[in-house]
Amino acid sequence: MSGASLGFAAVSLLKSKGFGQPDVAVILGSGLGELANRLEQPLICRYDDIPGFARSTVVGHAGQLVQGYLQGKKVLAMQGRFHYYEGHRQQQIAHAVRVMKRLGAPRLIVTNAAGGINRDFSVGDLMLITDHINMTGGNPLIGRNDDKLGPRFPDMSQAYSRRLMAVADEAGRSLGSVLRRGVYMAVSGPSFEPPAEIECYGRLGADAVGMSTVPEVIAAVHCGMEVLGISCITNVAAGLGEEKLNHEEVIEVTRKVRADFEALVTRIITNLDQGGE
Ligand code: HPA
Repeated sequence: MSGASLGFAAVSLLKSKGFGQPDVAVILGSGLGELANRLEQPLICRYDDIPGFARSTVVGHAGQLVQGYLQGKKVLAMQGRFHYYEGHRQQQIAHAVRVMKRLGAPRLIVTNAAGGINRDFSVGDLMLITDHINMTGGNPLIGRNDDKLGPRFPDMSQAYSRRLMAVADEAGRSLGSVLRRGVYMAVSGPSFEPPAEIECYGRLGADAVGMSTVPEVIAAVHCGMEVLGISCITNVAAGLGEEKLNHEEVIEVTRKVRADFEALVTRIITNLDQGGE
């Protein structure tokens, strides 16, 4: 099946299960998926059942689409995401985003766990992504362009919505937490970076590094979604601290900041329509 027919099949299936017209789509990163369990009147569909969706193989990722209500807003959440390092093509990652757009989601909040490169950051900080550097070596838009979805050469000069960043800042302030801002560097993974790469990425302008998000954001911007990105700084990037890196530590930190993260995202979703450019 072509990408367009897989998209059509996926959207038809999900609509037949009652999915559709969400106020916002959310992609929940490593250890951050619990928020989907808080949605009221949930509808759940496992990725295995959705045409064109790959399986999510990573510990800490549930692998299902959940739609439900949070503070009266209809939220469509990916509880677990697809990563390039799992062997998925970036076009498959784009497919999931496009399905959410076709279901009617005008906006996407994308979240992840990331290593902190900026020395002012501390473990547990939440960072609004102001821009990204795509170091994955791939791009989800490679291949034939569907002009009905978006342009062949989409502009990325303001991929992350200033309006939504202002909404997020205000939400952070009202909760008494200051949000960091910075540039997210996406790498393919799955190996963590050696210190020399981190040194290099810092000089290139990255504040944080991770193995996800950018393919999703490129696909979302291409099809006209308004995007907000939030990184949870789970560790000091390699070579900047004493510790060796491991995935368990990443998950452990996301567990610790879960309450703050959920409060923030909930407040952002409540105030989704506030503020202008
Ligand atoms: N590097 C890459 N990805 C990550 C890291 C890191 O240090 N921490 C969490 N995800």
